Amino acid sequence: MKKTILDFNRMIEEGEKITYLTAYDYLTAKYQERAGVDMILVGDSMGMVSLGYDTTFPVTMDDMIRACQAVRRGAPNTFIIGDMPYLSYQISDEQAVENAGRFVKEAGCDAIKLEGCTPAITSRVRAISEAGILASGHLGLTPQFAGQLGGYKAQGKTADTALKLLAQAAEIEQAGAAMILVEGVPSIVGKAMTERAGIPILGIGAGSHTHGQLLIYADMVGMYDNFTPKFVKKYANVGAELLRGFEDYIKDVRSGSFPDDVEHTYSISDSEAKKLKELLEKNK
Ligand code: KIV
Repeated sequence: MKKTILDFNRMIEEGEKITYLTAYDYLTAKYQERAGVDMILVGDSMGMVSLGYDTTFPVTMDDMIRACQAVRRGAPNTFIIGDMPYLSYQISDEQAVENAGRFVKEAGCDAIKLEGCTPAITSRVRAISEAGILASGHLGLTPQFAGQLGGYKAQGKTADTALKLLAQAAEIEQAGAAMILVEGVPSIVGKAMTERAGIPILGIGAGSHTHGQLLIYADMVGMYDNFTPKFVKKYANVGAELLRGFEDYIKDVRSGSFPDDVEHTYSISDSEAKKLKELLEKNK
């Protein structure tokens, strides 16, 4: 049965960790649901992982909606969060509510996620929540602010910046966020944020103390090798396995050993084959 925000709050009370992975397509979502993951994020990391861009900036609302629909078909019983892409919420509260609503209405998402904590973003979180949509904040290393952060760098590494992050978490929670994802911060910061929060704190590269853990699926199964952040643990080597399969296929086709004339080929009865041969002979 699909978990709800109430289940996540109960899991926290009972000290049970929340498991969270990204997915961008039907098949991956299907395997994740089969494995029993609690939440799926259709992240705008899709731009880099699936669409091959260098950053997440080019990802559009239509890209996200199409991916969320596929993930929903693959994981009909899993809590799905749609990630609001760059410029889908920054312009106004109205724009943010309209686009957050598309995730729910067109793709069946259970929640949306948006990055940062400026006065404008706090206002967006409030507006989206008041429209009845569950909103996840995203603090710390926020890729849509990479320019201002000076790159994809861990955040909260000084006492002052760590305190600022904790204040941001309180602000986003007060604005009505249902949960917060915190990315790329020292463990002590993830721990303090988790201890102070009244909502689920999910971490990616934020240490072991957060209520749950997120990883980008293509990192943790060894498919995305452009770069690997420090916090990633590899649980499979799917990239190597894909390569082996593709190379073996190419070898077999080139050598003529695939397809096998019996195992992989449709047959015809001897009498029909004889008839066909005669017809071909006549029609030469
Ligand atoms: O888009 C995404 O997958 C994310 C993660 C990087 C946290 O937001």
